[in-house]
Amino acid sequence: MKIAVTGATGQLGTLVVEALKKRVPTENIVALVRTPAKASALGVEVRTFDYNHPAVMTEALAGIDRLVLISGNEIGQRANQHFNVVEAAGKAGVKWIVYTSLLHADSSTLNLANEHMTTEEAIKASGIDFTILRNGWYTENYTGSIGGALAGGAFIGSAGNGKISSAARADYAEAAAVVVTDVIHKGKVYELAGDSYYTLADLATEISNQTGKNIPYKNLTESEYTRILESFEIPGDLAAAIAS
Ligand SMILES: NC(=O)c1ccc[n+]([C@@H]2O[C@H](COP(=O)([O-])OP(=O)(O)OC[C@H]3O[C@@H](n4cnc5c(N)ncnc54)[C@H](OP(=O)(O)O)[C@@H]3O)[C@@H](O)[C@H]2O)c1
Repeated sequence: MKIAVTGATGQLGTLVVEALKKRVPTENIVALVRTPAKASALGVEVRTFDYNHPAVMTEALAGIDRLVLISGNEIGQRANQHFNVVEAAGKAGVKWIVYTSLLHADSSTLNLANEHMTTEEAIKASGIDFTILRNGWYTENYTGSIGGALAGGAFIGSAGNGKISSAARADYAEAAAVVVTDVIHKGKVYELAGDSYYTLADLATEISNQTGKNIPYKNLTESEYTRILESFEIPGDLAAAIAS
Protein backbone atom coordinates (compact mmCIF):
# COMPACT_ATOMS: atom_id res chain seq x y z
CA MET A 1 0.00 0.00 0.00
CA LYS A 2 1.82 3.12 -1.26
CA ILE A 3 1.08 6.60 0.07
CA ALA A 4 2.38 9.57 -1.93
CA VAL A 5 2.72 13.16 -0.75
CA THR A 6 2.90 16.14 -3.12
CA GLY A 7 4.82 19.29 -2.17
CA ALA A 8 7.04 17.00 -0.09
CA THR A 9 9.94 19.47 -0.15
CA GLY A 10 7.66 22.24 1.16
CA GLN A 11 7.32 23.21 4.80
CA LEU A 12 4.10 21.24 5.42
CA GLY A 13 4.93 18.36 3.07
CA THR A 14 8.23 17.63 4.81
CA LEU A 15 6.38 17.37 8.12
CA VAL A 16 3.70 15.10 6.58
CA VAL A 17 6.42 12.72 5.37
CA GLU A 18 8.00 12.75 8.85
CA ALA A 19 4.61 12.08 10.49
CA LEU A 20 3.94 9.22 8.05
CA LYS A 21 7.32 7.63 8.77
CA LYS A 22 6.15 7.16 12.37
CA ARG A 23 3.08 5.23 11.16
CA VAL A 24 3.94 3.16 8.09
CA PRO A 25 7.06 1.46 6.73
CA THR A 26 9.34 3.92 4.93
CA GLU A 27 9.18 1.87 1.71
CA ASN A 28 5.42 2.59 1.51
CA ILE A 29 5.95 6.38 1.31
CA VAL A 30 6.65 8.26 -1.92
CA ALA A 31 7.65 11.95 -2.03
CA LEU A 32 6.37 13.73 -5.15
CA VAL A 33 8.56 16.76 -5.78
CA ARG A 34 9.50 19.30 -8.43
CA THR A 35 13.19 19.22 -7.56
CA PRO A 36 14.41 15.76 -6.50
CA ALA A 37 17.80 17.16 -5.43
CA LYS A 38 16.01 18.99 -2.58
CA ALA A 39 14.41 15.77 -1.33
CA SER A 40 17.41 13.56 -0.50
CA ALA A 41 17.11 14.14 3.28
CA LEU A 42 13.53 12.85 3.34
CA GLY A 43 14.73 9.24 3.37
CA VAL A 44 11.87 7.91 1.23
CA GLU A 45 11.37 7.12 -2.45
CA VAL A 46 11.34 10.32 -4.50
CA ARG A 47 9.57 10.83 -7.83
CA THR A 48 9.53 13.91 -10.03
CA PHE A 49 6.14 15.61 -10.03
CA ASP A 50 5.06 18.99 -11.41
CA TYR A 51 1.47 20.22 -11.29
CA ASN A 52 1.97 21.79 -14.74
CA HIS A 53 3.04 18.54 -16.44
CA PRO A 54 0.17 16.00 -16.55
CA ALA A 55 2.04 13.21 -18.36
CA VAL A 56 4.90 13.29 -15.84
CA MET A 57 2.38 13.17 -13.00
CA THR A 58 0.48 10.18 -14.41
CA GLU A 59 3.74 8.28 -14.68
CA ALA A 60 4.83 9.29 -11.16
CA LEU A 61 1.52 8.11 -9.70
CA ALA A 62 1.85 4.56 -11.03
CA GLY A 63 1.23 2.10 -8.20
CA ILE A 64 0.15 4.81 -5.73
CA ASP A 65 -2.94 3.88 -3.69
CA ARG A 66 -3.36 6.98 -1.52
CA LEU A 67 -2.38 10.54 -2.41
CA VAL A 68 -1.94 13.46 -0.03
CA LEU A 69 -2.41 16.46 -2.33
CA ILE A 70 -0.91 19.50 -0.65
CA SER A 71 -2.28 22.63 -2.28
CA GLY A 72 0.26 24.50 -4.42
CA ASN A 73 1.58 27.97 -3.67
CA GLU A 74 1.10 29.69 -7.03
CA ILE A 75 -2.03 31.68 -6.28
CA GLY A 76 -4.21 32.03 -9.37
CA GLN A 77 -2.72 28.92 -11.04
CA ARG A 78 -3.84 26.40 -8.47
CA ALA A 79 -7.33 25.48 -9.68
CA ASN A 80 -5.86 24.36 -13.02
CA GLN A 81 -2.82 22.75 -11.42
CA HIS A 82 -4.89 20.78 -8.92
CA PHE A 83 -7.29 19.74 -11.67
CA ASN A 84 -4.26 18.36 -13.55
CA VAL A 85 -3.29 16.35 -10.47
CA VAL A 86 -6.79 14.92 -10.02
CA GLU A 87 -6.96 13.95 -13.69
CA ALA A 88 -3.53 12.28 -13.53
CA ALA A 89 -4.59 10.45 -10.34
CA GLY A 90 -7.67 9.11 -12.13
CA LYS A 91 -5.59 7.87 -15.07
CA ALA A 92 -3.04 6.24 -12.76
CA GLY A 93 -5.69 4.44 -10.70
CA VAL A 94 -5.12 6.28 -7.39
CA LYS A 95 -7.84 5.13 -4.99
CA TRP A 96 -7.98 7.93 -2.42
CA ILE A 97 -7.08 11.63 -2.43
CA VAL A 98 -6.58 13.57 0.81
CA TYR A 99 -6.53 17.29 -0.04
CA THR A 100 -5.38 20.21 2.11
CA SER A 101 -8.04 22.89 1.63
CA LEU A 102 -8.91 26.07 3.54
CA LEU A 103 -10.87 26.42 6.80
CA HIS A 104 -14.60 26.75 5.96
CA ALA A 105 -13.72 27.00 2.26
CA ASP A 106 -17.42 26.85 1.35
CA SER A 107 -18.34 29.99 3.30
CA SER A 108 -15.01 31.81 3.75
CA THR A 109 -14.77 35.38 2.47
CA LEU A 110 -10.99 35.03 1.98
CA ASN A 111 -9.97 35.55 -1.62
CA LEU A 112 -8.12 32.21 -1.43
CA ALA A 113 -11.34 30.22 -0.96
CA ASN A 114 -12.33 30.05 -4.62
CA GLU A 115 -9.41 27.93 -5.81
CA HIS A 116 -9.85 25.53 -2.90
CA MET A 117 -13.59 25.09 -3.55
CA THR A 118 -12.95 24.50 -7.25
CA THR A 119 -10.42 21.83 -6.28
CA GLU A 120 -12.72 20.20 -3.75
CA GLU A 121 -15.43 20.00 -6.42
CA ALA A 122 -13.03 18.52 -9.00
CA ILE A 123 -11.93 15.85 -6.53
CA LYS A 124 -15.51 14.93 -5.65
CA ALA A 125 -16.49 14.83 -9.34
CA SER A 126 -13.57 12.52 -10.18
CA GLY A 127 -15.18 9.53 -8.47
CA ILE A 128 -11.95 8.85 -6.52
CA ASP A 129 -12.45 8.40 -2.76
CA PHE A 130 -11.59 11.61 -0.97
CA THR A 131 -11.03 13.32 2.37
CA ILE A 132 -10.87 17.10 2.62
CA LEU A 133 -8.64 18.65 5.30
CA ARG A 134 -9.76 22.26 5.59
CA ASN A 135 -6.66 23.64 7.29
CA GLY A 136 -6.87 26.85 9.31
CA TRP A 137 -4.08 29.40 9.53
CA TYR A 138 -0.56 28.29 10.43
CA THR A 139 0.73 29.76 13.69
CA GLU A 140 4.00 30.24 11.81
CA ASN A 141 2.28 32.86 9.61
CA TYR A 142 2.46 35.09 12.70
CA THR A 143 5.59 33.90 14.46
CA GLY A 144 7.42 34.63 11.20
CA SER A 145 6.54 38.31 11.65
CA ILE A 146 7.83 38.65 15.21
CA GLY A 147 11.33 39.71 14.12
CA GLY A 148 9.87 42.41 11.87
CA ALA A 149 7.57 43.60 14.67
CA LEU A 150 10.51 43.93 17.07
CA ALA A 151 12.54 45.80 14.46
CA GLY A 152 9.66 48.11 13.50
CA GLY A 153 8.23 48.67 17.01
CA ALA A 154 4.70 47.41 16.19
CA PHE A 155 2.94 44.26 15.03
CA ILE A 156 1.00 45.21 11.91
CA GLY A 157 -1.96 43.53 10.27
CA SER A 158 -5.48 44.08 8.98
CA ALA A 159 -7.37 41.56 11.10
CA GLY A 160 -9.06 44.10 13.42
CA ASN A 161 -10.45 42.19 16.39
CA GLY A 162 -10.69 38.99 14.36
CA LYS A 163 -10.26 35.81 16.38
CA ILE A 164 -7.53 33.51 15.08
CA SER A 165 -7.49 29.80 15.95
CA SER A 166 -4.19 28.93 14.35
CA ALA A 167 -2.24 25.70 14.75
CA ALA A 168 1.36 24.78 14.03
CA ARG A 169 2.17 23.21 10.66
CA ALA A 170 3.30 20.10 12.55
CA ASP A 171 -0.24 19.65 13.91
CA TYR A 172 -1.81 19.84 10.44
CA ALA A 173 0.86 17.41 9.21
CA GLU A 174 0.02 14.99 12.01
CA ALA A 175 -3.66 15.26 11.05
CA ALA A 176 -2.88 14.43 7.41
CA ALA A 177 -0.84 11.39 8.45
CA VAL A 178 -3.54 10.17 10.85
CA VAL A 179 -6.25 10.56 8.21
CA VAL A 180 -4.49 8.97 5.24
CA THR A 181 -3.56 5.87 7.25
CA ASP A 182 -7.10 5.00 8.38
CA VAL A 183 -9.95 4.34 5.95
CA ILE A 184 -12.44 5.46 8.61
CA HIS A 185 -11.75 9.01 7.38
CA LYS A 186 -12.85 8.40 3.78
CA GLY A 187 -15.58 10.74 2.55
CA LYS A 188 -15.14 13.19 5.45
CA VAL A 189 -14.59 16.95 5.34
CA TYR A 190 -12.66 18.11 8.40
CA GLU A 191 -12.38 21.73 9.59
CA LEU A 192 -8.97 21.85 11.32
CA ALA A 193 -7.79 24.64 13.61
CA GLY A 194 -6.38 25.40 17.05
CA ASP A 195 -8.45 24.76 20.16
CA SER A 196 -8.33 28.36 21.39
CA TYR A 197 -8.18 31.75 19.76
CA TYR A 198 -6.26 35.01 20.01
CA THR A 199 -6.54 38.40 18.35
CA LEU A 200 -3.50 40.13 16.88
CA ALA A 201 -3.71 42.60 19.78
CA ASP A 202 -3.43 39.60 22.16
CA LEU A 203 -0.43 38.37 20.18
CA ALA A 204 1.25 41.81 20.35
CA THR A 205 0.67 41.87 24.13
CA GLU A 206 2.26 38.44 24.47
CA ILE A 207 5.25 39.49 22.35
CA SER A 208 5.62 42.55 24.60
CA ASN A 209 5.46 40.37 27.73
CA GLN A 210 8.00 37.89 26.40
CA THR A 211 10.49 40.47 25.15
CA GLY A 212 10.04 43.25 27.72
CA LYS A 213 9.50 45.69 24.84
CA ASN A 214 6.36 47.70 24.11
CA ILE A 215 5.06 46.21 20.84
CA PRO A 216 1.50 47.43 20.16
CA TYR A 217 -0.76 45.99 17.48
CA LYS A 218 -1.28 48.48 14.66
CA ASN A 219 -4.37 47.74 12.60
CA LEU A 220 -4.23 48.89 8.98
CA THR A 221 -6.79 48.89 6.20
CA GLU A 222 -6.56 45.90 3.89
CA SER A 223 -5.15 48.05 1.08
CA GLU A 224 -2.56 49.74 3.35
CA TYR A 225 -1.41 46.39 4.66
CA THR A 226 -1.21 44.97 1.13
CA ARG A 227 0.92 47.94 0.07
CA ILE A 228 3.31 47.51 3.01
CA LEU A 229 3.70 43.77 2.35
CA GLU A 230 4.45 44.54 -1.30
CA SER A 231 7.10 47.05 -0.18
CA PHE A 232 8.84 44.06 1.49
CA GLU A 233 8.90 42.40 -1.95
CA ILE A 234 6.05 39.99 -1.22
CA PRO A 235 4.40 39.32 -4.62
CA GLY A 236 1.12 41.20 -5.19
CA ASP A 237 -1.19 38.14 -5.20
CA LEU A 238 0.30 36.78 -2.01
CA ALA A 239 0.29 40.20 -0.29
CA ALA A 240 -3.41 40.62 -1.18
CA ALA A 241 -4.18 37.10 0.07
CA ILE A 242 -2.44 37.70 3.42
CA ALA A 243 -4.20 41.05 3.92
CA SER A 244 -7.53 39.50 2.90
N1 LIG B 1 -2.92 27.44 6.24
C1 LIG B 1 -2.06 28.42 6.03
O1 LIG B 1 -1.82 29.30 6.90
C2 LIG B 1 -1.31 28.49 4.75
C3 LIG B 1 -0.36 29.49 4.57
C4 LIG B 1 0.35 29.49 3.38
C5 LIG B 1 0.09 28.53 2.41
N2 LIG B 1 -0.86 27.58 2.63
C6 LIG B 1 -1.17 26.54 1.64
O2 LIG B 1 -0.63 25.30 2.14
C7 LIG B 1 0.34 24.78 1.21
C8 LIG B 1 1.47 24.13 1.98
O3 LIG B 1 2.05 25.11 2.85
P1 LIG B 1 3.62 25.22 3.00
O4 LIG B 1 3.87 26.16 4.09
O5 LIG B 1 4.22 23.88 3.01
O6 LIG B 1 4.01 25.92 1.60
P2 LIG B 1 5.40 25.84 0.85
O7 LIG B 1 6.50 25.62 1.82
O8 LIG B 1 5.44 27.02 -0.05
O9 LIG B 1 5.27 24.51 -0.02
C9 LIG B 1 4.54 24.45 -1.20
C10 LIG B 1 4.97 23.21 -1.92
O10 LIG B 1 4.26 23.15 -3.17
C11 LIG B 1 5.20 22.75 -4.15
N3 LIG B 1 4.77 23.22 -5.47
C12 LIG B 1 4.46 24.48 -5.83
N4 LIG B 1 4.17 24.52 -7.15
C13 LIG B 1 4.32 23.26 -7.61
C14 LIG B 1 4.21 22.67 -8.88
N5 LIG B 1 3.89 23.40 -9.97
N6 LIG B 1 4.41 21.35 -9.00
C15 LIG B 1 4.76 20.59 -7.93
N7 LIG B 1 4.91 21.10 -6.70
C16 LIG B 1 4.71 22.42 -6.54
C17 LIG B 1 6.48 23.41 -3.75
O11 LIG B 1 7.57 22.78 -4.40
P3 LIG B 1 9.10 23.29 -4.20
O12 LIG B 1 9.54 22.69 -2.88
O13 LIG B 1 9.80 22.72 -5.37
O14 LIG B 1 9.08 24.78 -4.19
C18 LIG B 1 6.47 23.18 -2.25
O15 LIG B 1 7.00 21.93 -1.95
C19 LIG B 1 0.77 26.00 0.37
O16 LIG B 1 1.26 25.59 -0.88
C20 LIG B 1 -0.55 26.76 0.28
O17 LIG B 1 -1.41 26.19 -0.69
C21 LIG B 1 -1.55 27.54 3.78
